[in-house]
Amino acid sequence: MCTKGIHVVFFVSSCFRGPVMIMEPLLTKYVREPNCFTLDFYLKHEGYEGLKKALALTPDQVVEMVKASGLRGRGGAGFPTGMKWQFVDKRSPNPRYIACNADESEPGTFKDHLLMERNPHLLIEGCAIACHAIGARVAYVYIRGEFFHVQRVLERAIDEAYRAGFLGRNVFGSGFDCDVYIHRGAGAYEAGEETALLESLEGKRAQPRNKPPFPAVIGLYNCPTAVNNVETLANVPLILRNGAEWFAALGPEKNGGPKLFCISGHVKRPGVYEASMTMTLRELIEGCAGGVREGRTLKAVIPGGSSVPMLMPDQLDAQASFDGVQKAGSLLGSAGLIVLDDTACMVWLAENLLHFYRHESCGKCTPCREGTDWLHKILRRIERGEGHMRDLDLLSSISGSIGGKTLCAFGDAAITPVLTTLKHFRHEYEAHIREGRCTLPASWRARHAAGAR
Ligand SMILES: Cc1cc2nc3c(=O)[nH]c(=O)nc-3n(C[C@H](O)[C@H](O)[C@H](O)COP(=O)(O)O)c2cc1C
Repeated sequence: MCTKGIHVVFFVSSCFRGPVMIMEPLLTKYVREPNCFTLDFYLKHEGYEGLKKALALTPDQVVEMVKASGLRGRGGAGFPTGMKWQFVDKRSPNPRYIACNADESEPGTFKDHLLMERNPHLLIEGCAIACHAIGARVAYVYIRGEFFHVQRVLERAIDEAYRAGFLGRNVFGSGFDCDVYIHRGAGAYEAGEETALLESLEGKRAQPRNKPPFPAVIGLYNCPTAVNNVETLANVPLILRNGAEWFAALGPEKNGGPKLFCISGHVKRPGVYEASMTMTLRELIEGCAGGVREGRTLKAVIPGGSSVPMLMPDQLDAQASFDGVQKAGSLLGSAGLIVLDDTACMVWLAENLLHFYRHESCGKCTPCREGTDWLHKILRRIERGEGHMRDLDLLSSISGSIGGKTLCAFGDAAITPVLTTLKHFRHEYEAHIREGRCTLPASWRARHAAGAR
């Protein structure tokens, strides 16, 4: 069994075949085929075989299988999926729900979009198996509002699945009933936070709830609910079709299965790459995405979407797994690798990201609502060359008043770009303040100021 490798999905037709062994793509194998999103196509490639196998097992057996597979949540936290399903309260007299998180708003992340657009039946099959596993009969797919086209594709696929009897009443004559509904969000980053998502599904403003109780106990409409990311659920049919051991062997210990990596920023070939988590971050960036552009040097990498700490070039031999990236001092998060070369001004980067977080703060918790605005104002004045040295302490102190003091992890996410750039590139902040401008010779900002094209 080949357990190391890559598959290129976007923009590139061939990939690096040096020391990296090629892994048979699983989630994205057919995404370039013209009719890959149709039921006919899916059925020719083992479609709904996983569901058939799952329905021959008891829900507990399915949960055990997913636990043994080492599947961890692909939405950000990397929580073991089987364990999450096991926590769903079975004693509650209320119905149970699956809520599929298709909000995908983390900057640098664009894998769920691809899966839903090109392989929608894989997700639908995953939703149905998840329903069976936790004893639910309804799954909601909460999709980001801007993904209008993807929603249409998914709707068509759901219709096909109903017509063919893979959804609806008495699926495969097993007595299992399952409905899948799409709920379109209005395009808010916070709506991807699991409890805010549930609020939004209930028709309320997407703001987080206090935890505990966790959704597994009190979730949608106060009923036990498992919230799972799109990529997480898309992996589930593979486990049922091929077995837990097979799935676990695709990645390092406790990091089973294939993984989609979104590589963006200053690389030659940005895109979505399917690879084993046994690979290193360097192999992904250099081998898959072609490394940084000609004549440039690598400056830093944000490995898990904009909300996680940066890694420096000498840290990139870390394994691209949940545990590997954590050991290196960051988080795999949503596996959105944002690559920065020597043209990137880190003060500008922090200002840009805080502009996003300030705008997206849902406003429920005062430290986040007020603090992100403060951080952004200070960063903006430093970036414009109007800052003071005392601003650097102020940035740290405001960040300290936000981190760990909010209902959800948004607050921690928002301060990360500030703290991580201050930690590694404080000299760039100081230079901005001292010189009243960006002093990086290569940065587009400096070149722009000098009137260069
Ligand atoms: C501010 C914020 C935004 C989030 N956005 C998303 C998102 O867009 N998609 C997602 O799957 N998880 C997102 N998450 C993580 C979810 O809260 C949750 O952990 C995830 O959906 C669980 O699914 P998993 O176990 O399959 O990873 C976000 C978390 C936070 C704090």
